[in-house]
Amino acid sequence: MSEKSGYSSLQILLHWSVAILVVFNYFYSEGMGKAAHQHLEGTTGPLPLNPQIHVWVGVAVLVLTLLRAVLRKTRGAPDVPGEGLFKMAGLWGHRLLYLLLFVVPLLGMAVWFLGLDAAGDIHALLANALLILAGIHAAMGIFHQYVLKDGLLVRMMKPER
Ligand code: HEM
Ligand code: HEM
Repeated sequence: MSEKSGYSSLQILLHWSVAILVVFNYFYSEGMGKAAHQHLEGTTGPLPLNPQIHVWVGVAVLVLTLLRAVLRKTRGAPDVPGEGLFKMAGLWGHRLLYLLLFVVPLLGMAVWFLGLDAAGDIHALLANALLILAGIHAAMGIFHQYVLKDGLLVRMMKPER
């Protein structure tokens, strides 16, 4: 990975698209447990959501994250700011976000497409972890921008070139 001073417009577009899709899917999920049972047993009945929307938005998160990871490897990305422990926290925070962006959809797919019932609870649990971590991450971004005033948030808004 080569080091850059900013993100490209495609990297920025992917960051915000994935963020919106993750938050959407988190809140558009109630009833997915029931939907999965109906789907796997071939039965029908009233549901509070259209499960196809949750499934395909989630698959889109996986595909876009894959694209993003490839882009990060080939094009590069800016170094995490800070020193020592703070830098480490930022670095591992981003790594954990990436990991969850892969694992959460994959576990959902294991339930929906493979009928792996046991993956359902872990999927929901890790979706909670993803949202909490993304919340801390967003708060850190705002802290950098408005308290430390180092312009970090602008990095994810204005493309380098
Ligand atoms: C579900 C929501 C979100 C997810 C999953 C997410 C995920 C990520 C990931 C994985 C990175 C690292 C990108 C890379 O270097 O390859 C990143 C960077 C960044 N994110 Fe988010 N993000 C989310 C929401 C937000 C929000 C709401 C904000 C702003 C308030 C934000 C601000 C930033 C900034 C400023 C960076 C760049 C940090 C740097 O340049 O070192 N993110 N995000
Ligand atoms: C980042 C993307 C995703 C997020 C944030 C997310 C979030 C959630 C949440 C919060 C629940 C718990 C709902 C509840 O019990 O009230 C849930 C359940 C579920 N989701 Fe996802 N999901 C994502 C991707 C996917 C994908 C890609 C699939 C399948 C292709 C999927 C299939 C399911 C299924 C089958 C359940 C029910 C699990 C069970 O209780 O057995 N999800 N999801």
